[in-house]
Amino acid sequence: MSSSPGTPEFADSYLVEVLEEFGLARKYVRAEGNTLYYLADDGAEVGVFDAASGFGSLMFGHNHPELVEHAKWLLDQRTPVHAQFSGYSFALDLAAGLNKIVRRELGTKDKFYGLFGNSGAEAVEITIKHAELDRGMRIAELQAEIDEHTARARAAVEAGVPVSEAAAALDTGGGGFAALVAEVQRRNAETAARPPLFLALEGGFHGKLVSSVQLTYNEEFRGPFKALAAQARFIPRDRPELIAKVVDEERAALLDFVVQDGVVDLVERDFPVFAAFLVEPIQGEAGIFPLTAELARALRQACDTIGVPLVSDEIQSGMGRSGTFLAGTAIGLEPDYIILAKALGAGIAKLGVVLVNEHRYRKEFELMHTSTYGRDGFSSRLAVKFLEMLEADGGRAYRLAAERGARAKAMMEAIKADYPDVVKDVRGAGLMLGFELHEQRGSASAEIREAVEHEALAFVIGGHLLRKHRIRIFSTASNVETMRFEPSIFLSDDEIARVDAAFRDVCQILRDQDAGRFA
Ligand code: F0G
Repeated sequence: MSSSPGTPEFADSYLVEVLEEFGLARKYVRAEGNTLYYLADDGAEVGVFDAASGFGSLMFGHNHPELVEHAKWLLDQRTPVHAQFSGYSFALDLAAGLNKIVRRELGTKDKFYGLFGNSGAEAVEITIKHAELDRGMRIAELQAEIDEHTARARAAVEAGVPVSEAAAALDTGGGGFAALVAEVQRRNAETAARPPLFLALEGGFHGKLVSSVQLTYNEEFRGPFKALAAQARFIPRDRPELIAKVVDEERAALLDFVVQDGVVDLVERDFPVFAAFLVEPIQGEAGIFPLTAELARALRQACDTIGVPLVSDEIQSGMGRSGTFLAGTAIGLEPDYIILAKALGAGIAKLGVVLVNEHRYRKEFELMHTSTYGRDGFSSRLAVKFLEMLEADGGRAYRLAAERGARAKAMMEAIKADYPDVVKDVRGAGLMLGFELHEQRGSASAEIREAVEHEALAFVIGGHLLRKHRIRIFSTASNVETMRFEPSIFLSDDEIARVDAAFRDVCQILRDQDAGRFA
């Protein structure tokens, strides 16, 4: 079997064509630590520092020896990969391990039930389904109460209690109480048939599957598929006061009967319009924007008021990257659901999970949602090993993420101080950093202006960093001025120095408006 890279004839042909244009279509043949290797024309291996690290899924770098050994050991042991519907679910140990860490960080004794899938977006889809099941059950509970009140009202009417004028006015045909009940039921059924809505933040990214993409703010990804799934209302992260306005705009009510003050009357009961509120504690694709503690508080309060679960998407920010297991811990975020993926599979297996607080958990879901590879023996056990490594030596991995990240951030901030005309901002926590350049639309260089117009400047810069500096780094998808820096915790001083020199080179080229120097 050959390990040489193939030609993009039957897959990715367009994508590779685009990447080739910017010199980004390198064919990597080996990966270790923070380095990806490609073969030069003479066959020699050339190492590239990988600051993209599998879109943030490589906490311990590529093919960490301990994780590779464990993966091999699992296969050598003939550990069952599949035994669906059996007494020993392979994810039990993983769910227990996750509970231990998450409860410690959230400072709670609450239980979190794990629901497993194969990717980040899939875990978000599971979240959406679970939240909608929960909403449906809450509607059914409300409906049952209304049915009971209707029966009580009917008995009261039969006993001679009059119907209020306002309520009776609903029965336009003059058909009496039975007709009034029919009209109320018709209206309630109409309201209950409304599709759910979700709340999310502007700039948010929650995946690209059919439902999850509707919670992803970027119109380019979301727009063409709007007709396929439930919609979200998006709130700017710096304007939490708008939540109440949006909730008010979408408000719906069910009609309910009451017998009070000697009359049968109708009252409105709030209908659960929203299924969940999804946020990333550090917005990744938006351009690396950490949420504030103030917003975390406002989100909790709003979700309690509306009665919807608060979902923390930690797919990118979680598993230690920010310096704590959950990035939400630093801002005191108190989620009802936590979604994890990416690094959870140890950078080797494909795995996603949503952890649902017991107060929100609907156990019926376990029989409704299944997936062939979801929580398979190989990925679940590899994830357990990954958690052990994170927690080892009193959490050395978290400390490294914080310390290495602080060092890298200081490097970027020093560049910003030297190039305030080029660098707009440096953001992030731990090893989830964003290096934002000023927009170049008004550049004196026609080439740079043209690249900006085609939304290609980030590719031009990425290509330059790769060719000249052998550094692999991309911009965030929805904020192309921000370079996303997410290497593993083994980031060395030497690698930081290389990025320092490379970023300064880019800044100088942009300051000089001399696109010709982009190699
Ligand atoms: N949520 C967040 C916060 C993400 O960053 C991603 C993926 C997903 C959900 C979807 O996960 O790719 O495993 O299905 N972000 C990638 C990125 C695409 O560029 O960081 P997935």
